[in-house]
Amino acid sequence: MPYISSEILEQIRDAADIVDLISEYVVLKQRGRNFVGLCPFHSEKTPSFSVNPEKQIFYCFGCGAGGDVFTFLMQHEHMEFPEAVQFLAEKTGIRLEQNREPGEQAKTEQLNRLYQLNLLAARFFYRALTAKQGKNAAAYLVTRGITPEIRKKFALGYAFEAWDSLLKYLETQGFNPKEIVQAGLAIAKEGGTGYYDRFRNRVMFPIQDQRGRFIAFGGRVIDGGEPKYLNSPETAIFQKKYTLYGLKLALPEIRRTGKALIMEGYMDVISAHQHGHTNAVASLGTAFTREQARLLSRYAQEIIIAYDSDNAGIQAALRCISIFDGLDVRLKVLEIPEGKDPDEYLKNKGGEAFGELINQAPTAFEYKLNLSLKQHDATTVQGKVEIVKGLLPDLAKLKSSIARQEYIKLIARKLNISEEAIYQELKQEYKLQKNGTAEDKKVNFRHNIEGSSRRVKESICRPEHDLLKLVLEQPELVLLIEKEIGFAGFTDIRVTRIFETIKQLLLASSQAPDVVKILEALVAEEEKQLLLALSSSDPLPVNDRIIEDSIKAIKLMKLKQLESEKRLQISQAEKEGNLDRVRELTLLLIDLQKRIQSLK
Ligand code: UTP
Ligand code: MN
Repeated sequence: MPYISSEILEQIRDAADIVDLISEYVVLKQRGRNFVGLCPFHSEKTPSFSVNPEKQIFYCFGCGAGGDVFTFLMQHEHMEFPEAVQFLAEKTGIRLEQNREPGEQAKTEQLNRLYQLNLLAARFFYRALTAKQGKNAAAYLVTRGITPEIRKKFALGYAFEAWDSLLKYLETQGFNPKEIVQAGLAIAKEGGTGYYDRFRNRVMFPIQDQRGRFIAFGGRVIDGGEPKYLNSPETAIFQKKYTLYGLKLALPEIRRTGKALIMEGYMDVISAHQHGHTNAVASLGTAFTREQARLLSRYAQEIIIAYDSDNAGIQAALRCISIFDGLDVRLKVLEIPEGKDPDEYLKNKGGEAFGELINQAPTAFEYKLNLSLKQHDATTVQGKVEIVKGLLPDLAKLKSSIARQEYIKLIARKLNISEEAIYQELKQEYKLQKNGTAEDKKVNFRHNIEGSSRRVKESICRPEHDLLKLVLEQPELVLLIEKEIGFAGFTDIRVTRIFETIKQLLLASSQAPDVVKILEALVAEEEKQLLLALSSSDPLPVNDRIIEDSIKAIKLMKLKQLESEKRLQISQAEKEGNLDRVRELTLLLIDLQKRIQSLK
């Protein structure tokens, strides 16, 4: 993606209009200055999701989701930032590329030739299945239970046994051997004298990208032989870590149901589609990657891992679960009886029985718990300790405190221990995590665990928050506030940092910063949250009275705090019998009380 200036981002933001954009996903009703609706990020019956057209932001008072048009797409459509920008640029007709680089045209041309080459190869392989030399391959597909329709749908084919049949064909179509090597379909002979086909005497599984372009191939031996599957190497148009086999074909069903099946291999995916589970995809002979997880979570809210149930499959499933860490999807793990692979199970028991397995699939957490119960002796103290210990990180990571509560109940029941004991352990775990890496600290657990104390604090901080709201309407006010009470010493430290940020923005530019600008300048998630929450709630009318009152209230709060500190010190000094100190402190206390009186 080319560099995009903040002016262009602003232009896109304005043109996209947040109300228009979000209206495509959420039914919004105007209420006062804001639009409100049911939050698309958590389930609710009464609207707490608000969109502010003036500030071009959205915020949910229920779950705290919030941001601008770009953030909305990133959160709702699981786009990356550059994608969200691209998407809105296209939608609003704003051009991103100001000046294309000179070499770019040639590069596009070269990529197009690679796509074309792969397409022709796929067709060549497909036709080969009906040729005489393709008879064995066609027969093999029949023994694997593949119907003609499915063969067609997946464009399955055959690579002849000869050393150069594809090479020759592609050369007649105007491609040179170098390009065919670049596409991964041919290999240069050692010593540099000629080329030969990479795939020979194999059943061919063409790989499409999510737009349906042919980009690579997998080839399976027909009878024994090594390796069982051979795949195209990475090329300019094929990057394994971004590719999911079957995604193009599975997308409509994944979109329709919000659910996707992840499988281990080509045959599993094909078999699943053949038996009515058309939402199946697979990674390509490599472990599932974070990029694939992101890609899939853009379309699916629920993802079912359907790997072999043998030991390797279990290990792969566990790895896959951890790949989804932090992504907003419900993860489940399919358990296939007797270690069979999904393909076998589908063939023997049919699509309906497989659907039953899906319905019964435990969540990723339950799956881990079950595994742990099998690995340890849950009747011994040591076993119980190990099991709980192993699950703590997962419990801590859960976004939903309801889910956490339910799982704790479940563990308590299975291990015959008290829920309280698990909560105790969990507290320790949080402490560990808090002292851990910055990344750990970002995990959402704080919301749930500290939610109640946060709420108490929220009410103490009322005048501070009112003040911040006023500043949002009239940023120049920060200068007055700094003069009157200073930024330090707010009970809510976030207010301090936001004020400082606003002041900096104010000094750096002649224009008063809007909410989106301030949001961009803030780093900490909890500061952004507060800003969004306050700027999305009903604004206070700006008048000197309110400003004065808020400043006064804050001054008063500070003085009262000092007052109670003094009282403590006095009683301490009395206990120690230090009468001089008592007298001294009492004078200070009286002075404080006078100041408090004068403010009231
Ligand atoms: P499996 O060996 O489980 O293959 O490997 P499978 O899909 O069950 O194949 P069949 O049923 O024997 O035909 C799972 C996946 O790992 C990759 C392939 O993508 C395969 O589908 N793989 C496996 C390779 O890339 N190379 C290999 O040699 C083996
Ligand atoms: Mn198999």
